[in-house]
Amino acid sequence: MNYYISTPIYYPNASPHIGTAYTTILADAMTRIRRMKGDHVHFLTGTDENSQKIVRMAEAKGVSPQAYVDRIVASFQKLWRELDIANDDFIRTTESRHHRVVQDLFVRLQAQGDIYKSEYKGWYCTPCETFWPESKLVDGRCPNEDCGREVTWLTEESYFFRLSKYQERLLRHLEDNPDFIQPVSRRNEMIKFIEGGLEDLSVSRTSLSWGIKVPGDEKHVVYVWLDALVNYISALGYPDGPLYAQYWPADVHLVGKDIIRFHTVIWPIILMAASVPLPKKVFGHGWFLDREGAKISKSRGNVADTFELIRCYGADAIRYYLLREMPPGQDGTFGEEALVERFNSDLANDFGNFFSRTLAMVERYCEGIVPAPRFEGEAQEALRALAAETADAIEEKLLSCDGAGALDALWQLVGWANRYVDASAPWALARDPEQRGELETVLYTCVECARILGVLAAPFMPGVPVKLLRLFELPDVGDPGLFDSWENAKKWRQIRPGTRVHKGDPLFPRIDLDQVLAEREGQGNGADVIREQSQELGLTQPQPEAQENSPAQSAINPEIDIEDFAKVDLRVVKVLAAERVPKTDKLLKLSVQLGDEERVVVSGIARHYEPEDLVGRLVILVANLKPAKLRGIVSQGMILAASHEGSLEVLSLDQPLPPGAQVK
Ligand code: MSP
Repeated sequence: MNYYISTPIYYPNASPHIGTAYTTILADAMTRIRRMKGDHVHFLTGTDENSQKIVRMAEAKGVSPQAYVDRIVASFQKLWRELDIANDDFIRTTESRHHRVVQDLFVRLQAQGDIYKSEYKGWYCTPCETFWPESKLVDGRCPNEDCGREVTWLTEESYFFRLSKYQERLLRHLEDNPDFIQPVSRRNEMIKFIEGGLEDLSVSRTSLSWGIKVPGDEKHVVYVWLDALVNYISALGYPDGPLYAQYWPADVHLVGKDIIRFHTVIWPIILMAASVPLPKKVFGHGWFLDREGAKISKSRGNVADTFELIRCYGADAIRYYLLREMPPGQDGTFGEEALVERFNSDLANDFGNFFSRTLAMVERYCEGIVPAPRFEGEAQEALRALAAETADAIEEKLLSCDGAGALDALWQLVGWANRYVDASAPWALARDPEQRGELETVLYTCVECARILGVLAAPFMPGVPVKLLRLFELPDVGDPGLFDSWENAKKWRQIRPGTRVHKGDPLFPRIDLDQVLAEREGQGNGADVIREQSQELGLTQPQPEAQENSPAQSAINPEIDIEDFAKVDLRVVKVLAAERVPKTDKLLKLSVQLGDEERVVVSGIARHYEPEDLVGRLVILVANLKPAKLRGIVSQGMILAASHEGSLEVLSLDQPLPPGAQVK
């Protein structure tokens, strides 16, 4: 079967962030499962480069728009490689293959009267590059949920696309194809929107020079959506390329909720007007929000750098977390602490530990050679049935764009696997020679279960099978390989007895967030956000020379001279007042007395202390730390605290000394 899946094409106005990575990861997981099922898949992603925003950003940097986008597009492509994204094509709207199709379509639609020249008078939102009808403004401002900024009145010669003419046809299409817009809540929203009346769409600008020129009227460039949406067919070589013949209409366009309107109103109407079949489905997912409920975005800077996150946790963990945390049809929350919690509980404890236990037991009790099962009993039957059920459930959920549901199904099997080991207690069987047959059967079952989990995890975490292939010395992995065929998850006895296995390193070694953050600070590559996070976590000092992989609690930093230590000015201070910093549950703002001076210090201890517990206490301040701005408050120093496994104690004096006293 042919399967064509796309992500939106991203604006290369800033490097990609974790929110934009979600759609690409979901598309990749869907692509991988389809490929494992033997389908021919075409997975397209790319960049939307002809926008005014790009020109502004390039100007600000003093480079040409092309040079500017080339650099950022390279960072998108690098990110996709690092996240193991297996896209077939990457379309850039600055490419001639795209320009040609947009211009041809423009000319055709103009010739048939669906594009006409007129004058645009309307309210324009510059950051969103959108004209809004008066009726859609909210309190006179841009109605975009994520924007809400002022709009300006603009008059400009412009070409228009006759959206209004196709309104009824579009409504009929939505009625006849209930699956066209998913999830259903978004479908209902869109139907209401269309029934409210469509206005013709401005599709050119005279004020721009960067973009695709309107043929025969070159003072106009084609404007945003008519340009961007066409990528889905220009990349296939519309109208006569072999890929177009093979893959169009698309099976699914994955998009975020903010652009579903463009994909379910403008795009189908462009296609209808051009007599091109419509895509089968547009799926609009929610956004990733930060813990304060704000959309994750580069301009807000409310998340650590994606490359840094991959470096710390690995691509598989990032993929797992994002897919698991986005509930279908709703928004998800991204937080590094929650990521580490999931990493440690789901990936290290549940998933990774099952592999470690299994392989360690084969090493210990069978010299690393997979034993032959002696019989087939209830457990083996149960595993076969559950594996098939899980494979079907994952397939059903993932292909309906529900990564979280698919992973829930996979984790049912992970739970079964660990319970099976606990219940069959191979360590007890190993003590009794008469139970040897039982022991070998249990261990074989565990090895098979590990293999099955490897197959089922492959679409989500493609690094897992790669690691497993290093742990299993497979004489013949077949074609398609053991972990490349979805059907293999439903098969039994695929690992040959006699295969050598190694315990190797854990698939997902546990992570200590404090250590990660300290290392990041030490390397000096943390953004303000990162600094703030570590401050919030009550970290004491940055650790410039923290060793990679050193255990956080026990590692002692390299020696320093007494002169180095003398540079740190530690003082006793008295807490005069304390209050919570709004919109974060971690920071307290303290006013402290240092001699005659009063200072403000922001401290990440709000989860451990009520403000009133601190007032009047004598605590220790790093008095000569460079001031840092946290949540807009300039913090003049840092309060010392000790932390261990989630608890935290502020260092304070038992006997009173005057505020300002030195600590040596
Ligand atoms: N260039 C247009 C799309 C044209 S498609 C023909 C665009 N680009 S974008 O870079 O602003 O956004 C691309 C996608 O990223 C959108 O689907 C948007 O919803 C998604 N996301 C941006 N921030 C996001 C989160 N915080 N969370 C999830 N998705 C997010 O729009």
